[in-house]
Amino acid sequence: MAAIGTDIEHAKQLLEQGKLVAIPTETVYGLAANALDASAVASIFEVKNRPTFDPLIVHVPDVEALDLFAIEVPEMAYALAARFWPGPLTLLLKKRTIIPDLVTSGLDTVGLRCPDHPVTSRLLASLSFPLAAPSANPFGYVSPTTPEHVQDQLGDAIGYILDGGACRVGVESTIVSIEDDSLVVHRLGGLPIESLQTVDARVIVRPNSTSRPLAPGQLESHYSPRKRLLLGNISALLQHHNPETVGVLSYCTDYHVPNQILLSPTSSLTEAAKNLFGALRSLDKMPVDMILAEPVPDHGLGRAINDRLRRAAVQ
Ligand code: TXA
Ligand code: MG
Repeated sequence: MAAIGTDIEHAKQLLEQGKLVAIPTETVYGLAANALDASAVASIFEVKNRPTFDPLIVHVPDVEALDLFAIEVPEMAYALAARFWPGPLTLLLKKRTIIPDLVTSGLDTVGLRCPDHPVTSRLLASLSFPLAAPSANPFGYVSPTTPEHVQDQLGDAIGYILDGGACRVGVESTIVSIEDDSLVVHRLGGLPIESLQTVDARVIVRPNSTSRPLAPGQLESHYSPRKRLLLGNISALLQHHNPETVGVLSYCTDYHVPNQILLSPTSSLTEAAKNLFGALRSLDKMPVDMILAEPVPDHGLGRAINDRLRRAAVQ
């Protein structure tokens, strides 16, 4: 079972040996390896049981990395990085050949992100290479937001889990590309659209845009608990389901059923995002047959929450 600890030096040594380490970020925990070492990266795909057509995000220590790992970087990318890095924003850019094809699944673009977490920032600054890191969960399941979530599922397969506490944001990064000077969102995430609009008012939101998903985090069924999840009006759903045998995931309303979780009793979308994945894991463990959930207000972080709930509801 992988140890959970705060030893950055130990994490560094393992990564330098081509081994995997789970790392904290502000969004979710990542399963990290040396991004420039194809065989280290290959073990990420193995451990996660992840199809190799699903590319990995490369985590970098600072804005200077843009020119180290990407070419033809548009002005808008520099502006976005200056504004939102470190933070929950992944930029899709034309890759340099130093990034192995396995990392990008053969695409000519690479997703670069500078995470905003003190532990991982120190780790990245101490390394001579960037870190390829998908979320540290088995492919298709809910992302981990605590070290214990990682240990529960991948503890036997990895060397070390670097403890950074519970993730502050709780949903994955927002993924964007720049096409013909327009900002295109490929995955709704921890950086709200409204924030991006302060840089370019004409943000285009295009999750699920291609048949070969540009971001397979956009695969319809993803981020799913094991139990069936129905998304809708909980009061109406409760008319047709036994309140004793369902789990309820509400935004802020108490539905007076024995197994329920309120994402944010004070109706804060920030708090709801932080609690979302942990709540889905808890409901999976409750003695219920199915989960009933409701959408949250569809603005700010609410859009990313609703996106994840919709995907969790697809069987
Ligand atoms: O917040 C996050 O982004 C977390 C933390 C660990 O940084 N990482 C994360 O990684 O969510 P992952 O692998 O679970 O999701 C990354 C998504 C995938 O859906 C992948 O398809 C997409 O990013 N992606 C990565 N590189 C891409 C590329 N070159 N083109 C299109 N999509 C890409
Ligand atoms: Mg993931």
